[in-house]
Amino acid sequence: MEKTLLLGLCVTVGLLSVHADHTDKGVVQAFTGNSTILECLAKGARMTDSTGVYWTRMDLKSPQYVFFYKNGHSDTTHQDSRYTNRVELAWPNLENNNLSLIIHNVSATDNGTFKCMLIQGGTSRANTFDVPPIRTLELIVNDLSKELDEEFIENNHVAWYIQAIVGFFFVAAIAALLFFFQRLHAHYNKSSQSERNHAQEE
Ligand SMILES: *[C@@H]1O[C@H](CO)[C@@H](O)[C@H](O)[C@H]1NC(C)=O
Ligand SMILES: *[C@@H]1O[C@H](CO)[C@@H](O)[C@H](O)[C@H]1NC(C)=O
Ligand SMILES: *[C@@H]1O[C@H](CO)[C@@H](O)[C@H](O)[C@H]1NC(C)=O
Ligand SMILES: *[C@@H]1O[C@H](CO)[C@@H](O)[C@H](O)[C@H]1NC(C)=O
Repeated sequence: MEKTLLLGLCVTVGLLSVHADHTDKGVVQAFTGNSTILECLAKGARMTDSTGVYWTRMDLKSPQYVFFYKNGHSDTTHQDSRYTNRVELAWPNLENNNLSLIIHNVSATDNGTFKCMLIQGGTSRANTFDVPPIRTLELIVNDLSKELDEEFIENNHVAWYIQAIVGFFFVAAIAALLFFFQRLHAHYNKSSQSERNHAQEE
């Protein structure tokens, strides 16, 4: 009886915690120097002229943000300086309810978790940044030049092995050759010796 109750409680808590988080989550991989797109869709939202979007990062303190767009234009007042002239909307007027953000010239500092929030007309400036995100995206930045370096080092290792193997066989071949000539020489000496012995006997 107690066990059943406990199980029921666990299931309920489990279901509640699944239900509590409506945020869509995703992971994006990007390379330094390239552009990347953080996708976000305001499914079924009613879009008006005053609908906006607010993009920020988990580690940014309000009022700082990555990108803020409302009433038909972007607002750079509290934009984090790292994103100046580097971010733009994929759909400039949020067509198709598409709130996706393009980040140009991705750098290692872009590595982090981004949040996308839909801003509706009625939201006052003070509440703007408190709306729940509709999507969180983890951006993982890969440094291509570093990866190439690692590949180069790895290839160098391979080259080193090949050189070592070739070197080993080269030395072995010379040793074998030396041994062969030495034996030949010894054999020649022995036979000429026995010839001389023969000549002396006669
Ligand atoms: C970076 O972007 C350029 C141009 O869009 C593309 O040709 C290249 O393949 C991209 N590199 C990587 C590693 O994604
Ligand atoms: C949103 O826009 C981006 C960029 O054009 C596109 O890649 C993406 O597929 C769009 N998302 C949807 C759900 O239409
Ligand atoms: C891209 O960003 C790097 C710093 O992360 C900077 O040195 C470089 O000039 C930028 N390139 C462009 C085309 O803006
Ligand atoms: C990138 O960010 C993730 C968390 O979002 C973190 O686990 C990882 O260590 C970071 N990588 C670098 C190279 O900073």
